[in-house]
Amino acid sequence: MVNEVLISEDKIAARVKEIGAQITEDFKGEEIVLIGILKGSVPFMADLMRRIDLDTTIEFMQVSSYFGGTKSSGVVKIIKDIDIDLRDKNVIIVEDIVDSGNTLAYLKNYFNNRGCKTLKIATFLDKPSRRKVELVPDYVGFTVDDLFIVGYGLDLDQKYRQLPYISWVKEV
Ligand code: IMP
Ligand code: MG
Repeated sequence: MVNEVLISEDKIAARVKEIGAQITEDFKGEEIVLIGILKGSVPFMADLMRRIDLDTTIEFMQVSSYFGGTKSSGVVKIIKDIDIDLRDKNVIIVEDIVDSGNTLAYLKNYFNNRGCKTLKIATFLDKPSRRKVELVPDYVGFTVDDLFIVGYGLDLDQKYRQLPYISWVKEV
């Protein structure tokens, strides 16, 4: 069962609006490509894109670093790639949470090799206390403690993604 609400729907909406405004400001006059990492980024992506006032396209990619349970394996596998040319594009990777940093360190390297003009990371949550590799996201919704977070896209064994707020569960 999930525990108490850590971040309410209202707080999420207000913060996502701020990040959208920040991205709009930072990329004024430019086009951007948002690349959402499935499946966890879906609610954040859907809310964030509607708060960005720029020429924007969206893509999705699926990777896996967790094979069930609450511990990352550290091995990143691409399950679904994107098929557009990223050369000279302003790319923002949209992720649910940065934990060890393995997934985003891998993706950053992967996209940098595809010739983007700029590459930024927008993560809804950041859990810096668990970092195993150096990775500093450019846009962060909220910084969270070392708890296993669920809701607003984040899952435990594929469950709880649909919760409109952020909560946590006991690690198994
Ligand atoms: P990292 O590679 O360790 O940074 O982990 C990134 C991925 O692990 C995220 O995209 C999430 O899917 C998953 N993850 C990490 N921490 C949590 C958590 O607290 N709750 C749910 N999923 C998590
Ligand atoms: Mg995920």
